[in-house]
Amino acid sequence: MNFSNSEKLFKEACEISPGGVTSERQPQKFIPGKYPIFLSHGKGSHVWDVDGNEFIDWICSYGPLVLGHNNENVDNAVIENIKNGFCFTFFHPIYNTLIKKLLEIMPWADMAKVLTTGSDATAAAIRIARVCTEKDKVIRWGYHGWHDWSYGGAGTDRTPYGVPKSAAADILTFNYNDLNSLEEVFKQNKGKVACVIMQPFESSKELPKEGFLEGVKKITHENDAVLIFDEIRTGFRVALGGALEYFNVTPDMACFSKAMANGYPISVVVGKKDIMLPSQKTRISGTFFPNTFPMVAALATIKEIQDRNGIEYMWKQGTKLVNGFKSLINDFNIEAEMIGLPVMPMLKFTYNDQELNTKYKNIFFAELVEKGILLHPNHHWFLSLAHTDKDVDDTLNASEAGFKKLRKEIS
Ligand SMILES: Cc1ncc(COP(=O)(O)O)c(C=O)c1O
Repeated sequence: MNFSNSEKLFKEACEISPGGVTSERQPQKFIPGKYPIFLSHGKGSHVWDVDGNEFIDWICSYGPLVLGHNNENVDNAVIENIKNGFCFTFFHPIYNTLIKKLLEIMPWADMAKVLTTGSDATAAAIRIARVCTEKDKVIRWGYHGWHDWSYGGAGTDRTPYGVPKSAAADILTFNYNDLNSLEEVFKQNKGKVACVIMQPFESSKELPKEGFLEGVKKITHENDAVLIFDEIRTGFRVALGGALEYFNVTPDMACFSKAMANGYPISVVVGKKDIMLPSQKTRISGTFFPNTFPMVAALATIKEIQDRNGIEYMWKQGTKLVNGFKSLINDFNIEAEMIGLPVMPMLKFTYNDQELNTKYKNIFFAELVEKGILLHPNHHWFLSLAHTDKDVDDTLNASEAGFKKLRKEIS
């Protein structure tokens, strides 16, 4: 497969923008030379790159494309909306409509704040927790965006580039599925912790052990801190109301974005009134927060997921995909496993020798790209309502060829 136009554009981008493209989109996050770098368009579950190659897209822009590319209902609602102007000094009534819809989906929550990006939402939730508790420290687990408080090295002795040591000093972490480690962090920072913010689970790691999320909630509350679930990746996909709905554990606040509006920029913090109300005292504001078209897109996206029983559909397609992969792994006697949940699955190679593991992984995923299947080699994938039976079959057929090639290499 030829990526010469992608590579030419990337070379040019590197001259005019640091790193060429933003980090998770850089070639080294995939397999350099084996994946496209620039895409031209998408429709449904398929994307085309600037060299004319077509792919089944299982990455879905790292999550937002829950309905697939170029969804007509959402895009037409947005087009109608922008004809009337969308960037106003004052709010539009659609704001109330959206919040009421979100609170209907998330009956545990009383209030919501609408923002633009996932990082906006997690940063706002932290600020709200700090206002509410009048404490500074944050215990976090998972990825929450790029801001000073959330980027890089919590739990390590490394301060990431560009983050002041003073900012990193207030950020702590703990080990997932290990309540003792959380208790220990609280003990060492008694009376100073405003909140625990965490992804309820991370698809590339282990699922929560029985009682773990409940235990986190109990320990957090015993220490007069606020529990925040970061549902930016899991919301509107694992369940409409996120992983918290699926695992049946409610936090005090939760952050949503990505799949909420099928790619249009919007995020939200939802939560309990007693925690969110005091945040009026602080400033959480963005020029683009009142823009109407992302709200219109969110309402249209939620409606389509609901109308089409979309969560169930994604679980069904994801389960077929995962089961297919499991059989192939078994048939070809490959040391690998399928991890995560079926709506956000990941293929993990488990050879002991790291170098061999990387080599085998790269052979497999590069072969899949050659066959027009865009699966992420180093990150979990995302199911969408656009993924058809044929997409699953085509992907499994290509994977069979990929595993066959790998088996030959191993033997
Ligand atoms: C779990 C989680 N939280 C927060 C974020 C940050 O969202 P954004 O990139 O929109 O700022 C991400 C982005 O990938 C995420 O996966």
